[in-house]
Amino acid sequence: MTAISTGATSAHAGRLSQTAAPVLEIRNLSTVFPGATRPTVIVDDISLTVRRGETLAVVGESGSGKTMTFLSALGLVPHPGRVAAGEVLLNGTDLLRLPPEELRRRRGAEIAMVFQDPLSSLNPVFTIGDQIIEVLRAHAAVGRASARRRAIELLERVHIPDPHRRIDDYPHQFSGGMRQRALIAMAIALGPKVLIADEPTTALDVTVQAQVLELLADLKAESGMGMVLITHDLGLVARYAETVVVLYAGRAMERGPLDAIFERTRHPYTVSLFRSIPHLDTPAGTDLTPIEGQPPNPISLPPGCAFEPRCFLGKGRSDCATRRPLLEPIDGTDHLSCCWHWRELASGRAGP
Ligand SMILES: Nc1ncnc2c1ncn2[C@@H]1O[C@H](COP(=O)(O)OP(=O)(O)OP(=O)(O)O)[C@@H](O)[C@H]1O
Ligand SMILES: [Mg+2]
Repeated sequence: MTAISTGATSAHAGRLSQTAAPVLEIRNLSTVFPGATRPTVIVDDISLTVRRGETLAVVGESGSGKTMTFLSALGLVPHPGRVAAGEVLLNGTDLLRLPPEELRRRRGAEIAMVFQDPLSSLNPVFTIGDQIIEVLRAHAAVGRASARRRAIELLERVHIPDPHRRIDDYPHQFSGGMRQRALIAMAIALGPKVLIADEPTTALDVTVQAQVLELLADLKAESGMGMVLITHDLGLVARYAETVVVLYAGRAMERGPLDAIFERTRHPYTVSLFRSIPHLDTPAGTDLTPIEGQPPNPISLPPGCAFEPRCFLGKGRSDCATRRPLLEPIDGTDHLSCCWHWRELASGRAGP
């Protein structure tokens, strides 16, 4: 089983624009935490590109390094972790080499992140309005009254009803969906060129999820922002993303245009991941197949391919178990796979 149809090709006809200019380029990013004997590598040599007006989806099991990749890119790795290597080019400027003050300025103004947990990202003791106004005033010399007017506009923009009144609410007075939208308002307040949305809808019910995602898509279309969508939901990936990167154990396993990843899958991990979670075309009653075993502990990764112990193609094969594959282009295209045996998926002979 190699092809997983989502209808992605037809839904995206005319939307594929590999020519749009890159706004964010992450090159060979690695992040480590100190370990008992040697550093633990949490983000391992990750490279990816986000283009203007496009969405890159980042998928992978829990703990695969999705959040940490982008915390690293923003210079926000929690202590005692640190970025050990790599570049994060925002319109050509390496964020990781900027003085801290300049990095803080660009974070928010040029690249913003909506964090995974909306409640802990809002301060319970300040009103929603105060928190948006704070963002506006921290970055530009605007008076309180005009910042308040702008905050109301932003709340309106993210479809908070009755924003003139709700601006003075505290976070606990907002519903989950409203809190998520307030965070989006804060993230777009300064007109960033890249917006990173980390599981923006996980805590929300399906209807509100759709509203938040449509809102993000509208904002992207209007402003030409590049967007990163970190998600477990393949339906959202198929619907909203142009390109996809699949992470496992802090490494990129497969990367490429949406239709390539879904319909010409060339990594056994992607095949297994897609079989383990529902997606758009999953017929009712289809059995989802959980991936056997657990992701490895980053403290002790297998010596070869990190997925080898769970892999239907590579388990027990000596090259997979001993030699680490590299993420390499398939036949010179922009579709890349990090697997010694991707050709076996291409031939259609292999399957889980
Ligand atoms: N503060 C920390 N100190 C040490 N290790 C950490 C820290 N935060 C996360 N990690 C480790 O980094 C790895 C990647 O975590 P990350 O939060 O990026 O995963 P994720 O893909 O975002 O998962 P999820 O889907 O659950 O959000 C995990 O092994 C995790 O245990
Ligand atoms: Mg995460």
